[in-house]
Amino acid sequence: MSSILDNRPELTKQVWEVAEVAGYLWQKGWAERNGGNITVNITVIDDEIRKLPPLGRAISIGRTLPYLKNAYFFCKGTNKRMRDLARYPMENGSIIRISKDCAHYEIIADQAVKPTSELASHLSMHNHLIGKGSNYKAVVHTHPIDLIAMTHNPEFLKKDVLTNLLWSMIPETRAFCPRGLGIIPYALPGSFELADATLKELEDYDVLMWEKHGVCAVGENVMEAFDMIDTLS
Ligand code: 13P
Ligand code: ZN
Repeated sequence: MSSILDNRPELTKQVWEVAEVAGYLWQKGWAERNGGNITVNITVIDDEIRKLPPLGRAISIGRTLPYLKNAYFFCKGTNKRMRDLARYPMENGSIIRISKDCAHYEIIADQAVKPTSELASHLSMHNHLIGKGSNYKAVVHTHPIDLIAMTHNPEFLKKDVLTNLLWSMIPETRAFCPRGLGIIPYALPGSFELADATLKELEDYDVLMWEKHGVCAVGENVMEAFDMIDTLS
């Protein structure tokens, strides 16, 4: 079966890097069932891809994200398992294109796999990052249980208490996660409330703890985002 990855080594590399990280998340025990999601901005793309017809109708994002006009993302599919994404990335994820109106997306390849339910947060973060001129292209969300457990202690929800504790325990955390761990108060998964609270803290942190849910990290690429979560966990 043909794939959008055929004869596109750069795109293939990026998708398989997502797959590699997906495998690590599963091996770490941070990806129960469909837990976690990854999106990567793959907009540097050729003209042929731009001409590809959508695999269905345009779907509303739920808000307008002006910096994402005609941007392309590889996204984990909703309800898809990280361990499956690791082996079959194009069956458990898809490539989407953001419409000209910046408020809709279309799935363009390989299959009509609906993107993650956390798309509101992921796309809002990508939009915010592009808007401020950042070269970050990856968002990784996962469920590292030890770190999540700590958010059941109200003391650790206070600003930078957990960051300072982690920095004092493991020197690498300060070296490789120098902006620390931001805390986002509990909000419904997949909601714009969660997205907006995340954006606010993205000013100060590259790794964010979604209280009693999971961690979300941004980086230049998926490996860098994974490394920060790995160092803190
Ligand atoms: P998805 O399967 O929709 O990506 O959801 C997993 C998850 O972790 C939600 O926060
Ligand atoms: Zn989650």
